Amino acid sequence: MTTEWKHGNIISRMSLEEKAALLNGASEWTTREIRRLGIEALVFSDGPNGVRRQRGKGDHLGLNASVPATCFPALSALACSWDEALLYRVGQALGEEARTLGVDVLLGPGLNIRRNPAGGRNFEYFSEDPFLSGKEAAAFIRGIQSTGISACPKHFAVNSQELHRMTVDSVLDERALRELYLTGFEIALKEGGAHAIMTSYNKVNGSYANENTHLLLEILRKEWKYDGFVVTDWGGCNDPAKGAACRSDLSMPGAGYVPVHEIVQAVLDSRLPMEALEQCVEDTLELQRKTAPGRKNRAAGYDPEKHHILARKTAAQSVVLLKNQGKPSRLLPLSENTRAALIGAFGSSPRYQGAGSSAINPSRLESLSQVIGNYLPRYTGYAAGYTPGRKRDPAKERKALSLAEKSELILYCMGLDECSELEGRDRKNLAIPEEQILLLQKLYEVNPNIVVLLSAGAAVDLWWENYCSGIVYGQLGGQAGASAVLEILLGKICPSGRLSETWPLRYEDTPSYGYFPGPERTAEYRESIFVGYRYYHSAQIRVRYPFGYGLSYTSFSYSDLKTDDRGMSFEIRNTGDRDGAEVAQLYVGIKKKQGLSSRQGAERLS
Ligand code: GLC
Repeated sequence: MTTEWKHGNIISRMSLEEKAALLNGASEWTTREIRRLGIEALVFSDGPNGVRRQRGKGDHLGLNASVPATCFPALSALACSWDEALLYRVGQALGEEARTLGVDVLLGPGLNIRRNPAGGRNFEYFSEDPFLSGKEAAAFIRGIQSTGISACPKHFAVNSQELHRMTVDSVLDERALRELYLTGFEIALKEGGAHAIMTSYNKVNGSYANENTHLLLEILRKEWKYDGFVVTDWGGCNDPAKGAACRSDLSMPGAGYVPVHEIVQAVLDSRLPMEALEQCVEDTLELQRKTAPGRKNRAAGYDPEKHHILARKTAAQSVVLLKNQGKPSRLLPLSENTRAALIGAFGSSPRYQGAGSSAINPSRLESLSQVIGNYLPRYTGYAAGYTPGRKRDPAKERKALSLAEKSELILYCMGLDECSELEGRDRKNLAIPEEQILLLQKLYEVNPNIVVLLSAGAAVDLWWENYCSGIVYGQLGGQAGASAVLEILLGKICPSGRLSETWPLRYEDTPSYGYFPGPERTAEYRESIFVGYRYYHSAQIRVRYPFGYGLSYTSFSYSDLKTDDRGMSFEIRNTGDRDGAEVAQLYVGIKKKQGLSSRQGAERLS
């Protein structure tokens, strides 16, 4: 009995070799075409914060050139907006650019759980929480796919460390797998309608994700009824026949004809049923059908200036105000007459995106030193003060200190340099490089009015925060991040970002400290579901800044909380003296004997 395929008219005319050939790419970024059957080559491209379209030599590490595109804030930043409508708009803009650049499938968003704040790719992921991750990813996916191309959430699944990422075995209990590590993907697929999904490099409980029957067949296909397309991570196929048997439809990048022969042989040896092979072909032809509208509308183009403005707006909405003190009450917002000094190398060479496959070639790039004059006409000047990743430089420090002495206030740029947080390597701790902290302490001696502008894609250790009165967490803010931060500093936009991960008092307080990253063949997820606030709340451990935290320039009151079988409602009022946006958060838990299970929702109100 042969299966009735939607594309049976094509499949029935294909040879075994042609069917097998569709399951492996033709190059770094394209699938094979079979002209006589009208099967087109599909183009894949990164990434989650901008289109990394390579026309020449391609690679999956962000090494070779790519054409200019708008660099939006990293997902770790956008996650702090808690705004699904905003994520949709960024997805839509990325879809427009990808469509214009000839891309059919955009490889993003990444939504692995930020299990440990030192995870090397946390800047590419939304949160420690699967609900927030899933909701934001779903909106982002809907935005991308509204333009006629396909999104491809990644990396499915349990890919929360970079060390040995291609071979490590993520060992975890079923509850943690489902509740924490898969829930975000489930929401993203079911509410985002993603046409494709990318499997992860690692193993999950003993078998590679791309050949994992529990993950790909029992859960993804059978329980979730996902009928879309599955592609490997680049170089993530270990056994083409096993992958195909798990309905992983395509292995990338193209690796010649070896994988094709392996598939053909597996069918001939009855190790791979013909029906399983034809199911993968059917999925590929379905993906071609779903991406046809994008190919038809390539000429629609997009407006680069509009996208740059959107990049600034989204960056501003993602900024988290962590600290705002000072004499008499608080330093921020600044008046435009403030005689502020801009100090710190990131002021002229901004940290605006992560390093690795998500790194793109921005169409424009602002720096604080370039644009500060438009916002603070009386600013006193810029001094680098340090060179990221290098030893202290007394001459640079002296220049910075003398500038600080003759200024009313210091805007001090601190952060992680791009060798500290990148794809392929986890951080060893949460420390900010020492030379930046030593200079902060010296600056504090000459002028205590300091606002730190912090660039990082994940939590850092803020033991030094008493040496400043304000901390503005500008994140990896994309190509327009500099003006976004200045809009916040001057109060033109009221800060409304809220942390999407917990910032612990010390790295040692994190639940997976001491066995993250898994150093050998296995990564033991011993903490189970107790990641982030689920842990700190249950264990009643104090943190520096909690999940969902962020200050505002105004204040809000909550009243009339009511609950009924449809949900909850409450009254919220802006009780301050300026416009602002608030992220109302609801944490609902059923207190049980053996601990706490919690569901939550969040609503952005402006
Ligand atoms: C990389 C990354 C993945 C990316 C792919 C293509 O190794 O893991 O996120 O989309 O390869 O560049």
